[in-house]
Order: sequence, then C-alpha cells, then structure tokens
Amino acid sequence: MTISVLFVCLGNICRSPLAEGAMRRLVESEGAAVEIDSAGTGDWHIGHAPDPRAQAEALRQGLDISMLRARQVTEEDFHRFDHIVAMDAKNLADLLAMQPGGARAALSLLLDHAEGGDVPDPYYGGDEGFAETFRLVEDGARGLLQAIKGQRATTV
Ligand code: 4NP
Repeated sequence: MTISVLFVCLGNICRSPLAEGAMRRLVESEGAAVEIDSAGTGDWHIGHAPDPRAQAEALRQGLDISMLRARQVTEEDFHRFDHIVAMDAKNLADLLAMQPGGARAALSLLLDHAEGGDVPDPYYGGDEGFAETFRLVEDGARGLLQAIKGQRATTV
C-alpha cells in the first residue's frame, strides 16, 4: 500500500520543497512506498523553482531540488493525499479553512512528528536560516516516516 504525503508552506519555494527533498531521500533509503509532493497556500510563486538559498542548502545536504516547481494547494489535494503536513500553525489554519467536506487527508504540523512547534519561515532572513530549516524539516520528515510505517503496520 502506497501512502501519499503533501508538504505545505506559504510560498512552496523554501520550506516545503526542502521537506519534500529530505523525505524523498529518507523514503528511498528505507525502500518505503510513499508518494511525496509539496505545495503552497499562496499563489505568488506558482511555476517557480525553489528559492536559490533553499536550492543551495539542499545541495550542501547532497540533494538536488532544482527541478521542483511551486504550485498552490487545491481542494482536490484533500481527496488525493493521505497526509497533508503543514510547516507552521498559519499554514495549518489556512488548510483547515479550505478543507472540503469528506476529505481523506489527515492534517498535521510537520514538527508534531518531531520536537513540536513551527518550522519558521526563512524567506526574509539570511542564508543561515536555511540550514536550520533543513535540520527541522529533516527531523520532522524522519518522525513522519516512522509514524507512517507504524500506521501501515497496524493496518495490514
Ligand atoms: P516558504 O517561504 O513558505 O517556506 O516557501 C516563503 C516564500 C515566499 C514568501 C513567503 C514565504 N513570499 O511572501 O513571497
């Protein structure tokens, strides 16, 4: 059974593409069947590649996220994905506000699967913020993957 996960931030050019890249590597290294995507609640960056600072941090971590393109969350995503995982409380509130009736997706905050709290928006900060962003999203992705694997074990 393949589980699907959508990571969501505001612009889909900083935090959620890094979460997507980190999760993709963890899933590949564990050979897990998890489908991954990311999106933003906002529409400013639709079609854009990740922020150059996010791409640079990904490369420092051995990940190429340059092929990702930003898109906005749609109502359809709530029916398509098993998990929609927000980077901060505002993203989660925005998702809850647009959640359609009968949605399939379970909503959570990424760091609820790790140390708790928000993944702060690094967009208006410097390069150093992106290293901390990566550390947080990788921690969250690791915890999320463990939760998914546990969930799968109890449902088969
Ligand atoms: P992200 O960061 O939500 O982590 O992708 C941001 C990117 C762009 C903007 C805000 C946050 N913006 O205001 O354009």
